[in-house]
Amino acid sequence: MNYYPLIKPLLFKLDPEVAHSLTLKGLKFSHTAGLDKILNPAFIAKPVTVMGLDFVNPVGLAAGLDKNGDYIDALAGLGFGSLEIGTVTPLPQPGNPKPRLFRLVEHQAIINRMGFNNQGVDYLIEQVKKSQYKGVLGINIGKNFATPIEKATDDYLICLRKAYLLASYITINISSPNTKNLRQLQQGDEIKQLLSALKQEQLQLEQQHNKYTPIVVKIAPDLSDEEIQHIAGLLVEFSIDGVIATNTTLERSAVEGHPLADEMGGLSGSPVKQQATYVVRRLADELQGRLPIIAVGGIMNSTDAQEKLDAGASLVQLYSGLIYQGPNLVNDIMRGLSSEHLISGNLL
Ligand code: FNR
Repeated sequence: MNYYPLIKPLLFKLDPEVAHSLTLKGLKFSHTAGLDKILNPAFIAKPVTVMGLDFVNPVGLAAGLDKNGDYIDALAGLGFGSLEIGTVTPLPQPGNPKPRLFRLVEHQAIINRMGFNNQGVDYLIEQVKKSQYKGVLGINIGKNFATPIEKATDDYLICLRKAYLLASYITINISSPNTKNLRQLQQGDEIKQLLSALKQEQLQLEQQHNKYTPIVVKIAPDLSDEEIQHIAGLLVEFSIDGVIATNTTLERSAVEGHPLADEMGGLSGSPVKQQATYVVRRLADELQGRLPIIAVGGIMNSTDAQEKLDAGASLVQLYSGLIYQGPNLVNDIMRGLSSEHLISGNLL
């Protein structure tokens, strides 16, 4: 039953952050009460194996919607092939002052400057332990606001160690525009040092636990061709397992003239679609299949998702599309994806 068109106008009358929290609480309530079996869309499976992990379908939830892992079971009921929770940091932190989340409805877009508000990695791990979810779970990790950028590696290592056993894969978020200097970690020697340290730790943890947890790196859409090439080369050099493209953009040309266009933060939704697809395509050219690409950015329907797969992605993720289209988007995409592509394309 598609109830979203009924509640969307009410939710959009509320402050975006209030609406966000209410929706997730409602979802959790309906899951706990067993109502979600009636309300949620039927589940569509089209299994794919990427990074050695079995995804029941290629449409995943992007990071940032469930930062603390509070809603894993409720979100799993929406038919996603994977869930990515976080970004989580070693210590809890409040994030930026409110307001920090804005809807640009005319553009099917969002601007956010949340700033990694989260309850810390220990809390998130407790939530994962409590959940019943057995599907692919990504844990997206970042650095605390108070940690100097030169010490960022330490924060990623703390989170990697704590999340290693429970995560299906771990995402290294070096592309949020809302933590000062974070994006520097995508450049020059900084990224080299970071990837080298993470790879070393991953191999040690693998030996220690007899379990290999893939590491993927999430990058920004605001990168030059040279930067994309540099990053792609290093991902291969350090045997990183995958890449997520992209995070939100600082670019505003697509929303120029909108009263909220100049709000600081990252822009997501329809206006980032082309830029994100461009990065996926450039990465695919550079990587030549040596590691898989997970595409995210502006996916509002199955055509958008197909475009990302055609550009070279193996999996897709959604965030803003869910806010504008509702939870049925997962199934709408699944129904629309060409099964030919799923069987013979980039997914295997
Ligand atoms: C995000 N995104 C995000 N990404 C991430 O790696 N860690 C995070 O904590 C967050 N937080 C976050 C909050 C909000 C409110 C939004 C809208 C987005 C980025 C998200 O995962 C995705 O990469 C982009 O939003 C682009 O995809 P969409 O939204 O256009 O589908």
